[in-house]
Amino acid sequence: MKTEPVQTEPQVIVHRHKAHLAEGAAALIARIFEEAPGDRVSLGLAGGSTPAATYERLRESPIDWGRVDAWMSDERWVPHQHEDSNGRMAAELLMDHVDARFLRPRWTAWLTAADSAAHYEADLRSIHPSGRADLILLGMGDDGHTASLFPGTAALDSPPHRWFVANHVPHLDADRLTTTFKFLHRAHRVLFLVGGSGKAAALRRVLEAAEGEERLPAARVMGGKAEVTWMVDEAAAAGLSTTPLIHG
Ligand code: 6PG
Repeated sequence: MKTEPVQTEPQVIVHRHKAHLAEGAAALIARIFEEAPGDRVSLGLAGGSTPAATYERLRESPIDWGRVDAWMSDERWVPHQHEDSNGRMAAELLMDHVDARFLRPRWTAWLTAADSAAHYEADLRSIHPSGRADLILLGMGDDGHTASLFPGTAALDSPPHRWFVANHVPHLDADRLTTTFKFLHRAHRVLFLVGGSGKAAALRRVLEAAEGEERLPAARVMGGKAEVTWMVDEAAAAGLSTTPLIHG
C-alpha cells in the first residue's frame, strides 16, 4: 500500500495584502484541481469572511467546475437564506455562478442540528467513496478555532468514526455543524486562508507553540495524512519568529 508522506512542516505562504492572498489562493486551488486525478474532485468550502475575495476570484478561474463536488466545511445552524449562513455566502459569491454540484446541510424547523449533521455525513460519504476529500478550505478565528471546532467544545472529541457533527458553542449560545478532525486529517489537502492582525497571536501559537502550550483546534488539523498549507497575509504573519518568504 502506498505510504503517505508524513508532512513534517506545514507550508506557509505569506502575501503582502489580503487582495494578493485571494489571488494566490485562487491560483493554488485551480492548480490543485488540475492535478487532482479522477473524474470528480471534492472541495470543502470555508465559512466566515476571509474566503469571500477568493470565492469571487474563483468565479473567473480556468476550472472545470462540472467535475467539482462542493460542500461546506462548517455551517451555522440557521435557515439557508439567513444572513449568517455560510452556505448562503458561498452560493452568492461562487456556487450560484458555476456549474459545480453544491451540497448544503439540510435545515428545517423540525430537524435538530444533530440530525442534519448525520444526514450531511451520509451525503459526504456518498460523494467521497475513497473516504478522502481532495481539498478542504478552512479559516481560523482569533481564538484558534477552525471550521466550527471551537476551544473547549464537544466536537473536539467527537466519536472517531464521525466525519461531520453538530457542535454547541456556549460562548456564542449557538449550535453549529462542523467537519471533524477525523475527516480533516484524511483529506489530500487542507488550505487555511488567514488574514488580518487580529489573527497574529493565534497564528503564532498554532505554528510556533511554546513547550507545554495547549494546541489550539487549528493546530490539531495538522499531523494527519492531509498536506496542510497556510496562506496568510503579512499582518497575520507578524507574530511569527521566522517570517517565510513573502509573495506578492
Ligand atoms: C465560521 C467559520 C469560521 C471562520 C473563522 C474565521 O462559521 O465562522 O467557518 O471557522 O473560518 O471564524 O472567520 P473570518 O474569516 O470571518 O475571520
